[in-house]
Amino acid sequence: MKYEQTIMLKNGKEAVIRGGEESDGSAVFEVFNRTHEETDFLLSYPDENSLDPEQEAQYLKEKTASTDEAELIAVVDGRIAGTAGIESVGKKDKVKHRAEFGISVLKEYWGLGLGRALTEACIQCAKDAGYEQLELNVVAENERAMSLYRSLGFVEFGRNPRGFCSRLTGYQELVYMRLEL
Ligand SMILES: CC(C)(COP(=O)(O)OP(=O)(O)OC[C@H]1O[C@@H](n2cnc3c(N)ncnc32)[C@H](O)[C@@H]1OP(=O)(O)O)[C@@H](O)C(=O)NCCC(=O)NCCS
Repeated sequence: MKYEQTIMLKNGKEAVIRGGEESDGSAVFEVFNRTHEETDFLLSYPDENSLDPEQEAQYLKEKTASTDEAELIAVVDGRIAGTAGIESVGKKDKVKHRAEFGISVLKEYWGLGLGRALTEACIQCAKDAGYEQLELNVVAENERAMSLYRSLGFVEFGRNPRGFCSRLTGYQELVYMRLEL
């Protein structure tokens, strides 16, 4: 999906939230690996990245062309500071109203408003694509993310006490949240 919006961050700098393009492949690959190194709240580790830079470029090209899936990037001072996206839960009639949301922002940019802007942009994309429900799961100790999602209207509908098993800390409880669009 195509999307572009310029926002003002809490530090006074401008950020562009836009759909990632094929030419962003290498930079998005680097940012994916860094964000997945910096926090233990995401699904995978950098060594589990299933895409190389070329595949990432192809992935972004497909998301740009898609009418119901998006991979957005936040650009600050010409650098990619974070990514967020929506993916369809499935094409079958019974689930085609549902999409899943994911986000990660580089640590040095936390607290500036990028997480909120990227999430709001994805909510808009999900509405534009015609979904009726946006879903996510979040590690229970991830207070920053939990607080962001609650403030945007996401509601908890269940927990999995052994949802993740971290290499560092063992089991992590996952909270399932949904937003009616
Ligand atoms: C979660 C994450 C996306 C938030 O991004 P961010 O750019 O820091 O978010 P924002 O600056 O827009 O802040 C959003 C909200 O976070 C909350 N928040 C910020 N700092 C916080 C803190 N220290 N403690 C608790 N909540 C906090 C506030 O509710 C804030 O809302 P506000 O706009 O009213 O201030 C980011 O921390 C991140 O990428 N973390 C690692 C990956 C991750 O956890 N992804 C989510 C997986 S479900």
